[in-house]
Amino acid sequence: MSTTAPAGVSGIAAPDPIDLITANLAGRGWCAVPRFLTGKEARALGREARGLWREGEFRQAGVGRGTETRVVESVRSDHVRWLDQERLTAAQRVYFDKLEALQTALNRRLFLGLFSFEGHLAMYPPGGYYQPHLDRHRDCASRVVTASLYLNEHWRKEDGGQLRLFTDSEAGVKGPFKEIYPRLGTLVVFLSGEFWHGVQPALRERLSLTGWFRVREEGALPPVG
Ligand code: OGA
Ligand code: MN
Repeated sequence: MSTTAPAGVSGIAAPDPIDLITANLAGRGWCAVPRFLTGKEARALGREARGLWREGEFRQAGVGRGTETRVVESVRSDHVRWLDQERLTAAQRVYFDKLEALQTALNRRLFLGLFSFEGHLAMYPPGGYYQPHLDRHRDCASRVVTASLYLNEHWRKEDGGQLRLFTDSEAGVKGPFKEIYPRLGTLVVFLSGEFWHGVQPALRERLSLTGWFRVREEGALPPVG
């Protein structure tokens, strides 16, 4: 038996999460991975993010892009804090290093041409939600892959706040969906232009780090939606 691959009780090595995500993105186009970060790693990120929230570092999220951005409470009610990749904390670095490895794997195996990542912390106050939407549209044509990491300890189904991901891209919001609860260390990855998704009302504070792998603007796929 290999001494390097971690073995479960069955003696079968657990699949590498990056391999798992790559295979699922190539197949059905989306993937949810519990424990993408360890509890310790995710807790450290969450602690820092809550500190920034208390310090008033978040801004109510807008809809649209650039000068067109405006707050539309009927669409989304979260507050965001963009991350500056030149000034990552140690806890953020741990996550971004893993994202970089994921970007490399996606480019190697799926030839996606991903070039950069932009991301923000997002806080949904109690009652917060986000109506179903696509992440790649006219104004965000360079977004190709969405990645959301959740930072909430002891999340229960009764707390709501699940990501609702509509898994049939043709049928959109009229089709079937999967629901993913925003539990500490869980990562959800999907093709930004294919899958409609939204956040169901959260009954308690819901914290996440959401971002997008992008292609160069000139390489952007034709807009959808
Ligand atoms: C978004 C988004 C989903 C989530 O910020 O665009 O869809 O689960 N977030 O936080
Ligand atoms: Mn989204």
